Amino acid sequence: MIEHQPAAGWIAVEDFLSAVVVRPDSALKHAVSAALEAGMPPIEVAPNAGKLLKLLVRLSGARRVLEIGTLAGFSTIWMAQGLPDGGRLVTCEYLSKHAEVARANVEAAGLGSKVEIRTGAALDTLAALEAEGADPFDFVFIDADKENNANYLDWAIRLGRPGTTVVMDNAVWEGAVLDPSLDTVNAPGIIGALQMMGEDPRLDGTVIQTVGSKGWDGFALALVR
Ligand code: SAH
Ligand code: DHB
Ligand code: MG
Repeated sequence: MIEHQPAAGWIAVEDFLSAVVVRPDSALKHAVSAALEAGMPPIEVAPNAGKLLKLLVRLSGARRVLEIGTLAGFSTIWMAQGLPDGGRLVTCEYLSKHAEVARANVEAAGLGSKVEIRTGAALDTLAALEAEGADPFDFVFIDADKENNANYLDWAIRLGRPGTTVVMDNAVWEGAVLDPSLDTVNAPGIIGALQMMGEDPRLDGTVIQTVGSKGWDGFALALVR
């Protein structure tokens, strides 16, 4: 990945906004500290982005959420907190160590009955969900290996329905979307997914650039037509 070099002012403002407006609860704060203690990378969404995910889940009326890329469950907990009674979230994680930490964090947040963590390559899990005839997902959050972002968008459409909301993290990647030589592993996948959001007649999308503790990045939002 590209080194993040966030400006001090961005982080100070983010901390202020988190403390005054976002107000993550103790379960969310614990999820971040438990991930650090387990030696996992601090690449969860920023608190203000997590809160945005929760609000988008509520605004869209989603009852079934699909997440691709769990890490320690920080974004998982935010989104599950936005679900109504009886709502369900399925999240895909490649690394069993990450999945175990996430499972403990989700349990500690009191959300174990709503959240299912599936370990393995997300492309395999997504195919399994289709084979099982899973009910359509109302909301999909894509935040795993960037090389597969366009594939994950396609799966979001296949496993969704007209009206499904799709959010994709890391849509700007420190500006590498303009210069893929900055990260030849991840940038092409991000650019491909952005082009798909713009061109695919099944999607209607936009991207918001973000700065803060996670550097210079972006949140892409699309509606399945
Ligand atoms: N959404 C999380 C952060 C996810 S970080 C949050 O905001 O809290 C990206 C995660 O995707 C990592 O845990 C990584 O192990 C996982 N990942 C990477 N490649 C994957 C794949 N092919 N399938 C599933 N998960 C994958
Ligand atoms: C990485 C992944 C992410 O989803 C993110 O938000 C930041 C960094 C990474 O793989 O380095
Ligand atoms: Mg991310």
